[in-house]
Amino acid sequence: MRPDNSKEEITVLAIESSCDETAAAVVVNGRDVRSNIIASQIDIHKLYGGVVPEIASRKHIEKINQVIAEALSAADKTFADMDAICVTYGPGLVGALLVGVGAAKAISYAAGKPLVGVHHIEGHISANYIANPELQPPFLCLVASGGHSHLVIVRDYGQYEVLGRTRDDAAGEAFDKVARAIGLGYPGGPKIDRLAKEGNPEAIEFPRAAIEGAPYDFSFSGVKSAVLNYINGCRMKQEAYSEADIAASFQKAVVEVLVDHTMLAAEDYHIQKIAIAGGVACNSGLREGMRAACEARGYDFYLPTPELCTDNAAMIGAAGYYDYRNGIRHGLDLNAVPGLKLGE
Ligand code: KG4
Ligand code: ZN
Repeated sequence: MRPDNSKEEITVLAIESSCDETAAAVVVNGRDVRSNIIASQIDIHKLYGGVVPEIASRKHIEKINQVIAEALSAADKTFADMDAICVTYGPGLVGALLVGVGAAKAISYAAGKPLVGVHHIEGHISANYIANPELQPPFLCLVASGGHSHLVIVRDYGQYEVLGRTRDDAAGEAFDKVARAIGLGYPGGPKIDRLAKEGNPEAIEFPRAAIEGAPYDFSFSGVKSAVLNYINGCRMKQEAYSEADIAASFQKAVVEVLVDHTMLAAEDYHIQKIAIAGGVACNSGLREGMRAACEARGYDFYLPTPELCTDNAAMIGAAGYYDYRNGIRHGLDLNAVPGLKLGE
């Protein structure tokens, strides 16, 4: 199908259910968010210390219709007003993704609207378009979330070149695991962020991993293990330790690597526009660290509001709009792809 680029206003319904948030949004022209409804499952999953996939799928089923109805009513729209139905189809938890994909396919079929499958990470990156109306590609984007750590050049709308990714844990995963080790509970990122403000970031020297021959790749399992070893060592020697110092020193180690790799890529590829995205982009240390590094070099720095950094459907509507404009359409055979890759 050829893209319909003649209309001035393209309105999409976007659905996101890749992990533990059931979300729907109405977005006009990729940047104007008319509604953004999120039903979070965090209260249930925190009882188990992390996301339990089967529970996530069941909760998505319970909530999805209600969340979609709320998104339409808050935007004062109906299915008939939509130009496309956009849905995250990967990467993520397969059972969770299937709920959103199933709902989107049913709406697309019943309302006779085009279906656009959206890549979750493209969604995270596109949150920047909502928060920064002036932002246009090309730019360099660091995506750091619970499941992903990517350094990506956004060549054009919908065109991505992945420079680096994590070899093991994602940055957010490391935050969550360290938080669990110091007894903060799930999700750990925001709690470490808060506790770090009370600690000394210079107190403990945790490792900053570099991968030979892959300067833009990340590895966070080493710093996570170093924190666990430090805590075990203190316990064995029956020495007191400061959770706040651990949080501050760990956060500093992770933020330094994220900022340094991004700055190296910006220099090597001569890109002066930098953006961050994903749940870890809420982190105050990363927001400040990246801003300072960009300011020192005269680069423009873009970031979404914290609500648009963590999983939401407005970002899927932003990415889906540009996919729609690029002529991307999916059939009713669209399936969830848990390991969907970016830029391949
Ligand atoms: O993007 P997101 O909502 O979900 C995924 O696609 O993974 O990211 C969630 C991750 C979690 O690991 C959470 O701990 C982390 O983002 N996170 C943070 C902060 N807020 C959320 N990490 C560090 N500092 C924060 N303030
Ligand atoms: Zn996400």
